[in-house]
Amino acid sequence: MAEQEKAEVLLKVKEKYEPPKEIVERAWIKDYESLYQESVKDREGFWAKVAEELHWFKKWDKVLEWNYPYAKWFVGGKTNITYNCLDVHVQNGKRNKVAYIYLDEDNNEKKITYGELLELVNRIANGLKSLGVQKGDRVSIYMPNTIEAVAVMLACARIGAIHSVVFAGFSEGALRTRIEDAKAKVVFTASYTKRRGKRIDLLPTVEKAIDGLDFVEKVVVWDRGGDVLSEEKGELFVNFDELIKNSSPDCEPEVMDAEDPLFILYTSGTTGKPKGVLHTTGGYMVQTYYTSKTVFDLHEDDIFWCTADIGWITGHSYIVYGILANGVTSLIVEGAPDYPNPGRWWSYVEKYRVNVFYTAPTAIRMFMRYGEEWPAKYDMSSLRILGSVGEPINPEAWHWYYENIGKGKCVIVDTWWQTETGAHMITTVPSYPAKPGKAGKPFFTLEVDIVDKDGKRLPPDTVGFLVIKTPWPSMLRTCWGEPERYEKYWNTIPGVYFAGDLASYDEEGYIMILGRADDVINVAGHRIGTMEVESALVDHPAVAEAAVIGKPHEVKGESIKAFVILKKGIEPSDKLVEELKLHVRNELGAIAVPDEIEFVEKLPKTRSGKIMRRVLKAQELGLDVGDVSTLED
Ligand code: WTA
Repeated sequence: MAEQEKAEVLLKVKEKYEPPKEIVERAWIKDYESLYQESVKDREGFWAKVAEELHWFKKWDKVLEWNYPYAKWFVGGKTNITYNCLDVHVQNGKRNKVAYIYLDEDNNEKKITYGELLELVNRIANGLKSLGVQKGDRVSIYMPNTIEAVAVMLACARIGAIHSVVFAGFSEGALRTRIEDAKAKVVFTASYTKRRGKRIDLLPTVEKAIDGLDFVEKVVVWDRGGDVLSEEKGELFVNFDELIKNSSPDCEPEVMDAEDPLFILYTSGTTGKPKGVLHTTGGYMVQTYYTSKTVFDLHEDDIFWCTADIGWITGHSYIVYGILANGVTSLIVEGAPDYPNPGRWWSYVEKYRVNVFYTAPTAIRMFMRYGEEWPAKYDMSSLRILGSVGEPINPEAWHWYYENIGKGKCVIVDTWWQTETGAHMITTVPSYPAKPGKAGKPFFTLEVDIVDKDGKRLPPDTVGFLVIKTPWPSMLRTCWGEPERYEKYWNTIPGVYFAGDLASYDEEGYIMILGRADDVINVAGHRIGTMEVESALVDHPAVAEAAVIGKPHEVKGESIKAFVILKKGIEPSDKLVEELKLHVRNELGAIAVPDEIEFVEKLPKTRSGKIMRRVLKAQELGLDVGDVSTLED
């Protein structure tokens, strides 16, 4: 098993980095070990104490109701997450404190205070109401990484509508699937986004995606350049700016039950159809708040920057909810990290004196290629904590991050978690020593294990499946409309949550994540289902069958390779390769486009007709193909 070999190499790395004294001194968590021990003895008591730091309209009657595999947290509690993200701060003297500093590729800056954000959110919330949106209705958001998009998310939460953000890099096919599955009543979009100086129109994609979907009643368009909306567009389209202008800046927050849905976020699974991960209000609020506070060690005057996009869970939890709940100032940035030059990000760290910086290993590896002279140009002495998320960080990238961005004075927190988990699950906290390449320890109250396929605990330094043995507040509650898919997380290995990752732990209990154990590929920190790409390929008239695998890639972590069987009479050609790539781009988006397409006559299958991607991958990488007893021939 390739993973075992990889593990053996990495496990030899015995390095451990002690945090600087100043960081320990100011940290919220000073003694991880003893607090962890305490937390597992009384899980409910632990989370209740955290929840008390937040505002509830009515306190919960019971912390946890665990009816395997369904959990309810803070049962009977009433709150509104936007109240904790906005009103609380405005009431506590932070009306004029900056909530977000937004930057576009031309370095145009826009700041919004907590007071202004609350007003904007309320205006949009009232606008939503005027469009007939009610508690429980779904609203799809297909917008670039901007303050406006965040405000729309919060406006939904304000009135109890369930938002479903769709990453604005997805194309019409992917967008349509998500709007259709959620049966969104309203879709929010912007006229365009910009990347590498190029305008990318979003409205035409939305128009194609909703064609024939009668349940979509309105499309609200943020017409950034004032050039896409006109009378001829018709009644379906609403101008975002006018909607805001005509609405009141006051809107009472909807009283939400702790278990009322907050949002759906689609993520790739092992079938062709993405799953709509559902998060609810109370537990998600509590755990995103508390992990933001303790893992990023946020204090009143901190400037925080998470480089993710609001289209992913990292953006939801650590650009929006968890960060606002802590009332700090954070950056939100639109466009490419290295445009107009590879100094873009570091210039922001210098200019805004960023203290906590959270990004993905793929970005770090990209900057490694540009060379250390880029970060060296800037004064980054404000940095204290560096975070990593989305994929395993290889020790080489870890060291580069530590030396060139952190200048050897920062702490790195490597946070393992998922769309499904809602918030950090495995990491070290800043006061606790970190080990390069290893995510670290279970977060408070969590019991994590590495097991074989029967659920038996494996000895240290052995690769197995990562499972979580106890429920946690921000866990997904179900998959939208597909409870059986939800239950699969908990019955793949009966009794525990099956994360779908391969991992290993060392003699000190540090957990190292090795990658996915299923048919999900992680390209540049983005989850892509092999079956989604295969379906997009098969959808092309020239393609009879397709199989997709992930291959190790120096920068992206993994890249996509597709094996394609053409229909009878169709000749392979380079032109066809390009056409198929374009087809996938149009169906799913740029992130899902295979780097390589190989035309083949046959695909390895089991006797029951399932493609054995494992065999393809082993052949491609020149590895032992392993057990092939189920192979057709
Ligand atoms: C991977 C992103 C190693 C993992 C928050 C997981 C990681 C998937 C890490 C979830 C990490 C995330 N180290 N691998 N620190 N963080 N992953 O749902 O394979 O987009 O299952 O959530 O990313 O991806 P998702």
